[in-house]
Amino acid sequence: MSVWIAPSVLSADFGSLATDVAQVESDADWLHIDVMDGHFVPNLTVGPPVVASLRKHTSMFFDCHLMIDNPADYLLAFKESGADSCTVHLEVGDTARLVDEMHELGLKAGVAINPDTPVDGVMDLIHSVDLLLVMTVHPGFAGQEFISAVLDKIAILREERDRRGAKALIEVDGGIDPLTAKEAARAGAEVFVAGTSIFSSPPYGKACRQLREAALEGSTA
Ligand code: DX5
Ligand code: ZN
Repeated sequence: MSVWIAPSVLSADFGSLATDVAQVESDADWLHIDVMDGHFVPNLTVGPPVVASLRKHTSMFFDCHLMIDNPADYLLAFKESGADSCTVHLEVGDTARLVDEMHELGLKAGVAINPDTPVDGVMDLIHSVDLLLVMTVHPGFAGQEFISAVLDKIAILREERDRRGAKALIEVDGGIDPLTAKEAARAGAEVFVAGTSIFSSPPYGKACRQLREAALEGSTA
């Protein structure tokens, strides 16, 4: 049983990102970078220049979550800035083509669904994607409460992924702390994104270890 811990820099201090990232580097697996465009979600964050700057400071796997309307226009820029994976939202449409483009660029490809989006739309993509991101809050802001109703969707996707022998990892994002990580792991999640529960609880490395322990407990329950 493996779990991946992915601190979200959305809750880090943007004025000292490299320092904050260094504090999670040895206890986390991936770095989750939330990209928001003010259209797909009502918030603005960072883009390729910040990814490129961070790349100079760490060799961590960069898991870029694109909450943007027109991801096709930016995939190359993310690749060139040092992203390892990009995740696009099913809600923006044309997802199969976006997945192909990510793979052609040498990126791992993820597809995300919002809490109100049914799982049906990702079923056809299970074999082609590397990551299935189930949002456990409505995207846009850190610090929201985990939506437990989403647990059923995680369980359905995990069962279907296993049944088909596909490789896509199931990722959860939003309101993840040791308690909710355990529940999500029990439902079948494998990658745990956490902003607030890590970056508001120094030392950050310890918060990562606690999250991993809880997720592992849930995944073996
Ligand atoms: C929400 C973002 C999340 C967010 C998670 O739109 O996609 O990655 O940073 O933050 P917490 O863990 O605080 O819910
Ligand atoms: Zn995210």
